[in-house]
Amino acid sequence: RLALVWGGVWGIAAAGDPLARVVAPPWRADPYAQYRRLSGAQRSRTGAVTVASHALVSQVLRDRRLGVRTADGSEPAPFARSPLPAEHLVTHTFLEEDPPNHTRLRGLARPAFGPKQIAGYRESVEKTTHRLLDDALAKPVFDLVADFASPLPIAVISDLLGVPDVDADTFLRYGRVLGASLDGIKSVRHARDLRDATGELQKLFLRLIEERTADPGPDVISTLVEALGRGELTEQELLSTCELLLIAGFETTSNLIGNAVHTFAAHPDQWAALRADPSLAPAAVDEVLRYESPVQMTQRLPHEDVEIGGVKARAGTLVACLLGAANRDPEVFTDPDRFDISRPDSGDHLSFSSGIHYCLGAPLARLEGEVALTALAERLPELKPVGRARWRKTVVIRGLTRYRLAR
Ligand code: HEM
Repeated sequence: RLALVWGGVWGIAAAGDPLARVVAPPWRADPYAQYRRLSGAQRSRTGAVTVASHALVSQVLRDRRLGVRTADGSEPAPFARSPLPAEHLVTHTFLEEDPPNHTRLRGLARPAFGPKQIAGYRESVEKTTHRLLDDALAKPVFDLVADFASPLPIAVISDLLGVPDVDADTFLRYGRVLGASLDGIKSVRHARDLRDATGELQKLFLRLIEERTADPGPDVISTLVEALGRGELTEQELLSTCELLLIAGFETTSNLIGNAVHTFAAHPDQWAALRADPSLAPAAVDEVLRYESPVQMTQRLPHEDVEIGGVKARAGTLVACLLGAANRDPEVFTDPDRFDISRPDSGDHLSFSSGIHYCLGAPLARLEGEVALTALAERLPELKPVGRARWRKTVVIRGLTRYRLAR
């Protein structure tokens, strides 16, 4: 039954397989308890390999013999298994491309995330943070997710892309549908929602591309439009790159902020330490990323037969890389289940992946996390949850959908 329900999670979670324990609903609330039972690499009956140690996850992500597509470029799961054909659902972003396409497209988007650009965004991130907190903290009880953790990254990435009149609720809905698709497409309804969200985003970006062609600005879409003019990418690639930047830009960062506050509420001594010394904020962001990674796993496909930690992975079979497990590897992190913002090595987490797909937006995510935590520590001395936090039901993306706090 598990294999049926979770076929979307790459079809490797056949009952009794190592990954089944991690993805099954009863254990999702605490995947870490399951991760502790896994180590190194393990092969499931379907031939897929689950990799859980820091050394091996890191090795797989850097190994150029594995890609995000099969060697012949064919569709990887979960879209291969979806109830609607993949071309109706998503456009391929460079996250789902191998070199040379990946190298070319990532290279075109990279300048928007350079150190100078990121430093230039700080002031506007701070302004948006305080504006949102002014409104949230005017209420006796506010929802951290809806009032702060989601609208902040949406506003920041929209600004960076030059998307005007942002309707945060609509983006939030699209983001959730697209984020959930990382687990696979489990129903016709989900497939339809995904098609609709993608269609709406395409319409929005087509309009923006038209506008920037006529009237270029300093934003990343204008840069990509210029590259289109030089024939360096196709219109379809331009569209999918815009979508990737938008969705990758807020889904995960929103979860970083939610997971951070939730974790600090459970560790008041650490909140007190951050409040006493706000210069700890960057280290705190990395410790949250390590402790409660917004992206718990990713996947790769060997282009040839390879051996991973003594386990054979055949060409074309899935290799699931458990980033959340690697981040709690006792070989790398002393007492890994302890949340401690003064840890010297929190930054060694794999939450931004590794190798050629290493998160392009990591400096922006770190900036947003740092500004958000600094402002919250200053303005919300005590974290007082009201009721229970509500978690997403997804496996790949870990985060909250609702988290109410009293002022
Ligand atoms: C890729 C995590 C924020 C843009 C990735 C990957 C991970 C990740 C794990 C690689 C997946 C893989 O190797 O298969 C995160 C987390 C974030 C975050 C945890 C927040 C805490 C952002 C932001 C942006 C962004 C703010 C800005 C637009 C991207 C892009 C890629 C990517 C463009 C694709 C890189 C490539 O394929 O070369 N991210 N991300 N991310 N991320 Fe992020």
